Amino acid sequence: MNIVIQGAGRGIGLALAHHALANGATHLLLTARNPEQSVGYKELPPSAKISWFAMDFLDPDSIAIAGDAIFASQPKPDRIITTAGVLHDGGLQPEKRLGALSADAMLRLYQINAMGPVLFFKSLWPALRRAHPVVAASISARVGSISDNRLGGWYSYRASKAALNQYLRTMSIELARYNPYAAVVTLHPGTVATNLSAPFRSQLATGQLQSPEECAARLWAVLDQLLPDDSGGFFAYDGQPIPY
Ligand SMILES: NC(=O)c1ccc[n+]([C@@H]2O[C@H](COP(=O)([O-])OP(=O)(O)OC[C@H]3O[C@@H](n4cnc5c(N)ncnc54)[C@H](OP(=O)(O)O)[C@@H]3O)[C@@H](O)[C@H]2O)c1
Repeated sequence: MNIVIQGAGRGIGLALAHHALANGATHLLLTARNPEQSVGYKELPPSAKISWFAMDFLDPDSIAIAGDAIFASQPKPDRIITTAGVLHDGGLQPEKRLGALSADAMLRLYQINAMGPVLFFKSLWPALRRAHPVVAASISARVGSISDNRLGGWYSYRASKAALNQYLRTMSIELARYNPYAAVVTLHPGTVATNLSAPFRSQLATGQLQSPEECAARLWAVLDQLLPDDSGGFFAYDGQPIPY
């Protein structure tokens, strides 16, 4: 299988890349903002099977350039997975109250968590629309579910993931007109021991925290089971559908 993984420099994306390689991937096309500086590049250096591409979701030109280069290198990907997501970063923290909203932070999360993935799929449209079985998946988060929002808080992260879900749902409808064999989904990975969850794990019940490797194996199994009828869905790491 030919597998494209955006955000393979660390975290869940890197674990997915290792899992794909261990499970028969023939060509891995991996992205990071700065590949050479990433842990992923050291663990999975370029080879006949592994290609790296630089791409930053805050830079739309880099998305178009990387998309073209990936398509030129591999016009028939079987799976395209985006993993980028920001919840906190330096001074940027999830908002607990309306008064904490800032336009800069809202825009930044929207660009990385919602716009970036769908612009990347746009850049790979020629690979998606060819009538063949292909899975396009983005890692979202359960907190992006509007109907499941009972706790509030995390305004911009929730809103950006809800927007991501809507973008992919919409893309699934358009893509079905061209490629009836495609499945387009968003995925909730559960709580995973990465940089993203590090400040928010103190309240977790025992057994709720997954390693990136456990999460990658579960997400991979969900992708293995997907059928075109599942396209447009939002699924948890255990395969259960999540309501929007
Ligand atoms: N960990 C959890 O408990 C949890 C729970 C629910 C959902 N998620 C979701 O799971 C996904 C993966 O997160 P993670 O847990 O693996 O977190 P992580 O270790 O912090 O990784 C974050 C990823 O986002 C990428 N990224 C950040 N800014 C970017 C930008 N401007 N352009 C392109 N990529 C960018 C990073 O790429 P670089 O290496 O290039 O910076 C990295 O691959 C995210 O979408 C997150 O929202 C995670």
